[in-house]
Amino acid sequence: MGEIRDGLARKRIAVCVGSGGVGKTTLAAAIALQRALEGGRVLVCTIDPARRLANALGLETLGNVEAHVPDHKFREAGLAPRGQLFAMMLDVKRTWDDLVARHAPDRTRQDRIYKNRIYQQLSSALAGSQEYMAMEKLYELATERDYDLIVLDTPPTAHALDFLEAPDRILDFLGSDTARILLAPALSAGKLGLKLFHLGSGYVAKTLSRFTGAEVLTDLADFMASFQGMYEGFKNRASAVRALLAQPEVGFVVVSSASPRSVDEALYFHERLHAESMPIAGVIANRVAPDLWPGGGALPEPDELAAALAARGVPDARDLGARLARVLAEHEVLARADAREVELLFRSAPGPHAAIPRLESDVHNLAGLARLAVSL
Ligand SMILES: Nc1ncnc2c1ncn2[C@@H]1O[C@H](COP(=O)(O)OP(=O)(O)O)[C@@H](O)[C@H]1O
Ligand SMILES: [Mg+2]
Repeated sequence: MGEIRDGLARKRIAVCVGSGGVGKTTLAAAIALQRALEGGRVLVCTIDPARRLANALGLETLGNVEAHVPDHKFREAGLAPRGQLFAMMLDVKRTWDDLVARHAPDRTRQDRIYKNRIYQQLSSALAGSQEYMAMEKLYELATERDYDLIVLDTPPTAHALDFLEAPDRILDFLGSDTARILLAPALSAGKLGLKLFHLGSGYVAKTLSRFTGAEVLTDLADFMASFQGMYEGFKNRASAVRALLAQPEVGFVVVSSASPRSVDEALYFHERLHAESMPIAGVIANRVAPDLWPGGGALPEPDELAAALAARGVPDARDLGARLARVLAEHEVLARADAREVELLFRSAPGPHAAIPRLESDVHNLAGLARLAVSL
């Protein structure tokens, strides 16, 4: 208990990473809540909160700005925070727009980019765009605000590694010579298809091949041209983001479920963070089947259960006792399998750990988050 909390005690930025559906968004909120309860001024920047969680965090109005979680939400959950909790939901499009505005030499250029159809598709069409913007937003928040802790949730990437690579890949694309050479003739002729064919299967080729049709090529060429001169600014900022992520004030929290596949991915990601010298604040195993029969003793026999139920006047105690025994036994098998995976995860990825039990229902309010936070 308290291990992840200790791992994050001196951090100013926590980044929750892991494969899709493991509980990154939920745990980012729980980590933030926990620090706010203890007296910090904390911001959680979430990516895709479930609607009810967004409600609980006061995020029902979408926006790229921080919302203060109001006192009454805490009171309703029976919580009395000593600090303050702020939440925001990343808006990828707005973050791109802000970034362009920051780097465009003038209004005309900015508007030209905003109007470009390729640019408009960037947020959804370019793989990694969301990851890149999450980091971009983090950098802005970290350098322009004074929170005690900022907790960044990360996008539901198919592959956790995309997160670290996204900015480089997108910047390489924007500044790519390959793309430029290919696009130069696109304004005058339509030979692009053939050249694309020879490009192979690199990221640039894959991205370019999504955009086909002559007018799209013109858009694309215009898009590349509009970014001319801005590329350096983008690149410098991305390097700064990357440098920030390697600072000791940052702590990556690797989130996993107890499934073998998720544990594999978490370990791979942990290794990768380590290799990149990124500071790791801990590893969380989430939604672990709780041990209903702690201590490892033998499960009760159906007869014992039936007798106990009968003693309490429960009807059909015999049948119920038998069924209860079966459910307990099945649960025990699951709990033991989870425990084995968690043990493997924690042993292979040393450092602060937390195993978070699976709650009976989804976590969509502050009270639920607080229950999880206890295990951090
Ligand atoms: N410990 C837990 N117990 C029960 N449900 C959980 C727990 N952690 C997360 N959940 C639920 O699992 C679902 C996925 O969680 P989420 O945080 O959105 O994952 P991710 O952001 O990694 O995709 C949500 O419905 C959430 O309420
Ligand atoms: Mg999420």
